Amino acid sequence: MEIQLWKEILDPYELAVAELKVKFNHLIKEHKEKGLYCPIEQVDGRVKSISSILEKIHRKNIPIEAIEEQIEDIAGIRIICQFVEDIYKVVEIIEERRDMSVKLRKDYITNMKESGYRSYHLIVYYEIQTLNGPQKLQVEIQVRTLAMNFWAIIEHSLQYKYRKNMPEHIKERLNGAAQAILKLDEEMTLVRSEIMDAQNSFRIKSDIVADILNNIQNLYKVANKREVVKIQDEFYRIYEMDDIDQLERFHKQLDIIAEGYRAQNL
Ligand code: GTP
Ligand code: MG
Repeated sequence: MEIQLWKEILDPYELAVAELKVKFNHLIKEHKEKGLYCPIEQVDGRVKSISSILEKIHRKNIPIEAIEEQIEDIAGIRIICQFVEDIYKVVEIIEERRDMSVKLRKDYITNMKESGYRSYHLIVYYEIQTLNGPQKLQVEIQVRTLAMNFWAIIEHSLQYKYRKNMPEHIKERLNGAAQAILKLDEEMTLVRSEIMDAQNSFRIKSDIVADILNNIQNLYKVANKREVVKIQDEFYRIYEMDDIDQLERFHKQLDIIAEGYRAQNL
């Protein structure tokens, strides 16, 4: 096939990959701005090279006119997560999106490949707009943890080095490493709940503080200034203690005081 024709085929996939990278990176930004934990750590993308496409056509005996239908990973997006749980959260996010629809799922996390490979794969349909109108393309989205990614990159380069003849002792090493990665992800899951707890109590605390500050501000309008300053100093004293129970108690007392003033002013 002429190079110019390849360019025509591949160009729309370049657009799809660029758009999807922008969109997933924007999700990370939105989470950060809202102070929420983001299940996506990092996004990568690529269009398959002509030589890899040729290799695949040859390996899978694909007729040239069926390339776009049968090669599902001409456009590839890779989403890296910190924790295994995040992967399923990302899959949910993708399933709920209106700008892509899932054609196929492969869960190599519950069903690890014989090589030791783990990842969650989705093939989605994604529409782009071109001079010739809309075009629906297939995109492969691989979702994996940092640890799974580390293993896959190393294994891939060894596969490349040895082609089909990977020595048995290297295979065994890789299998051992895959087990270690599995264990590492499990350990990290335990740490994750700690992180979530910490983030949760941070949110509870900041909600209480926001409420207290709001109440104090309102008191300035209705109460004696000296009394409000006293309450304010008390708040600073309790805040310094860094004890959520004390803060909670103060919050409730303040509510009662504020309620009293509201009743008086009716
Ligand atoms: P390919 O023809 O290789 O695309 O396989 P497939 O179309 O049958 O789909 P599969 O889900 O097996 O693999 C899709 C992609 O996942 C591959 O192109 C790789 O990027 C990745 N992958 C699958 N298996 C392995 C593996 O054993 N090791 C590594 N490093 N990557 C893998
Ligand atoms: Mg594939």
